[in-house]
Amino acid sequence: MPERTWWKHGIVYQIYPRSFQDTNGDGIGDLQGIRARLDYLSALGVDAIWISPIYPSPMADFGYDVADYCDVDPMFGSLADFDDLVRDAHARGLKIILDFVPNHTSDRHPWFAESRSDRSNPKRDWYVWRDGRGDAPPNNWVSQFGGPAWTFDQATGQYYLHSFLREQPDLNWRNPDVRDAMYGVLRFWLARGVDGFRVDVLWLLIKDAALRDNPPNPAFQPTQAEINRFLHVHNADQPEIHDVIAEMRAVLDRYADGVLIGEIYLPLERLVAYYGKDLGGAHLPFNFQLILSAWNAREIARLIEDYEQALPAGGWPNWVLGNHDQPRIAARVGAAQARVAAMLLLSLRGTPTMYYGDELGLGRVTIPPEAMRDPWERNEPGLGLSRDPSRTPFQWDASPQAGFTRGEPWLPLAPDWPARNADALARDPTSILTLHRRLIAVRRRHRALSIGAFRLITVADRVLVYERSFGRERILVALNFGPEPHGIEVPLTGAVLVSTHLDRADTISELTLRPDEGVIVLCDAGEGDGAPGDRGARP
Ligand code: GLC
Repeated sequence: MPERTWWKHGIVYQIYPRSFQDTNGDGIGDLQGIRARLDYLSALGVDAIWISPIYPSPMADFGYDVADYCDVDPMFGSLADFDDLVRDAHARGLKIILDFVPNHTSDRHPWFAESRSDRSNPKRDWYVWRDGRGDAPPNNWVSQFGGPAWTFDQATGQYYLHSFLREQPDLNWRNPDVRDAMYGVLRFWLARGVDGFRVDVLWLLIKDAALRDNPPNPAFQPTQAEINRFLHVHNADQPEIHDVIAEMRAVLDRYADGVLIGEIYLPLERLVAYYGKDLGGAHLPFNFQLILSAWNAREIARLIEDYEQALPAGGWPNWVLGNHDQPRIAARVGAAQARVAAMLLLSLRGTPTMYYGDELGLGRVTIPPEAMRDPWERNEPGLGLSRDPSRTPFQWDASPQAGFTRGEPWLPLAPDWPARNADALARDPTSILTLHRRLIAVRRRHRALSIGAFRLITVADRVLVYERSFGRERILVALNFGPEPHGIEVPLTGAVLVSTHLDRADTISELTLRPDEGVIVLCDAGEGDGAPGDRGARP
């Protein structure tokens, strides 16, 4: 059945707003900057932008510490700027997805100020307060950013829980008033026209009711972040979370076509439970397997097949190559394989989420210690945990500061910006940016790619071949994960729609992939039922 829903055939593009486009010269990106770059996003061909948090925040975790859920931080602009952005994006057929951060607030949120003011305050139970065990915290839980997940509050003599920084106290999602207040936040933004939410750390919202200790992780190595010291049995993925997600969905379902995307880092079999009973959960529980797995053909073939198998009936797949918390794809696999990765992401079955700057091939960036901003790095230095290298400013053109700002950028630019920038790459017919535009255009034109079925054809050490089909339209994707040429031994005749090298558009009857090459071949155009130009048009 054709999948006309926009978030099924569409492509999501993540913007880290601090680093996209500054317009007021403070060195930090803003909403007017995003608005000024909508033409770039339209030309790239994406369907939706997900914007990391823009709410008022002391920025202890760069916006993931929210002090007011229903406003915009002056650093990013105003509610009026937001409305302008929504209007202009919608005028271009672009959807807007907001980052919803329900697990914790900022410690400066008025709710927390009330909660910590007095044990008998009506908002005391909006957060998780407990007595210590003697002089020790209530249990052994560790903060994601290192150290105990509990901070003692002198004034009221109890500890509060924070799964992240102490400036990010966890809300108590077992309290119905918290739920109501947070669903009110969803309604506030839906009424302003947003098209959905990416929900931050969705699998962490509900904790064990008795707050039991987590068991130790026998595989823990001291070179790892401290969060890995224990198995997350009692602080994550509790059964009651699915009721909460169903409630969020019920809020969203009152508005047309909104999408609910969940940030969930869990093994496959537990991840797919987040589609919910009768698909009443998250529409797209983020699938991070391409980020977390080794980069080789066999491993990737296995994870695609396992994922396809594990999906519940009717559950729509999705794929992610990078985000603001993870090393960039080009930093992980190198410039040549980053092009193969782009073809993989944009030709698999399911909604792709791209990360800003990956279309420029932004790679490894070394941030000098004095310029590091990520609080995780400051808490646990020397382990290579900093997320700053993946958050550097977008590189627009060859003007000063890459056209990102008139001021001093909040994080240093990657040094390759004079050559690696959107302006230069857009004019280069073989650049990685041109490749992304081509891949997106081809995906948009062919239903086999955007919504068609997936079938693994063959996998060898270095090569992966799969088929996408819709009606009689049949497309083969062949990817070379290595630096050697590789013959493909499957019967194959057709027109090359795109090669990662962008230097061929021939009709072939056999195929040898060049080093680090991927190709998409139209084997059967299936005229009549998958007709070009006829696919889920932009709304
Ligand atoms: C999510 C965000 C990350 C943030 C954390 C705490 O994992 O993606 O950037 O630090 O939640 O909100």
